[in-house]
Amino acid sequence: STIPVIAIDGPTASGKGTVAHRVADRLGYHYLDSGALYRLTALTALRRATPLNDEHALAKLAEHLPCSFAGGEILLANENVTDAIRAEAVGNTASQIAALPAVRQALFALQLGFRKAPGLVADGRDMGTVIFPHAPLKVFLTASADARAQRRYKQLIDKGISASIEDLLMDLNARDARDTHRAIAPLVPAEGAHVLDTSNMTADEAVDLVLKWHAAAV
Ligand code: C5P
Repeated sequence: STIPVIAIDGPTASGKGTVAHRVADRLGYHYLDSGALYRLTALTALRRATPLNDEHALAKLAEHLPCSFAGGEILLANENVTDAIRAEAVGNTASQIAALPAVRQALFALQLGFRKAPGLVADGRDMGTVIFPHAPLKVFLTASADARAQRRYKQLIDKGISASIEDLLMDLNARDARDTHRAIAPLVPAEGAHVLDTSNMTADEAVDLVLKWHAAAV
């Protein structure tokens, strides 16, 4: 396919969601939030009390997710779950089931389908390594664990949710360890990826850099 893809990968709270979203807006490209697919699968599994070691049942849920994305809202069988999938418990479950090969396989074709003209910004952990390995631009966004915990803390406080930096840091480290050390599609920079540490950068500074790389890549 000649439809351009910008693959943006990185750990939890690295700012990649914000950056990927703004880059897509600026270019008028489609946006794939691949983490949301793992979160939707997790939410469904939690609601149905599907055992988290039943790989086959979980893959079935993933394969038949009745989800749709419109105007920044995420629907699951017509229910608006945009906020529900952001709960910490859902994120933790998502990271557990994301280690199961059959679940990843079930979500593979769904993700490829987001590649539509005029272009796609794909946000996740394995966009540049597994899903779109031939993307003309790959970016790996990181930030120190402290910077990421601070960002997550601020997001929660802004939403009126109480939080503790220590708990958030523990949570981030546990999720990073799982994502980085899993046997399948581990979180690593893709070959040829631009690695960008955003610890001391605003989101807009990162967006401008990505747009500059994009202009040079096409
Ligand atoms: O990015 P987000 O925090 O929404 O993703 C939730 C979880 O889904 C991650 O912790 C990760 O384990 C998993 N994930 C993944 N591959 C992706 C996107 C997300 O394994 N492409």
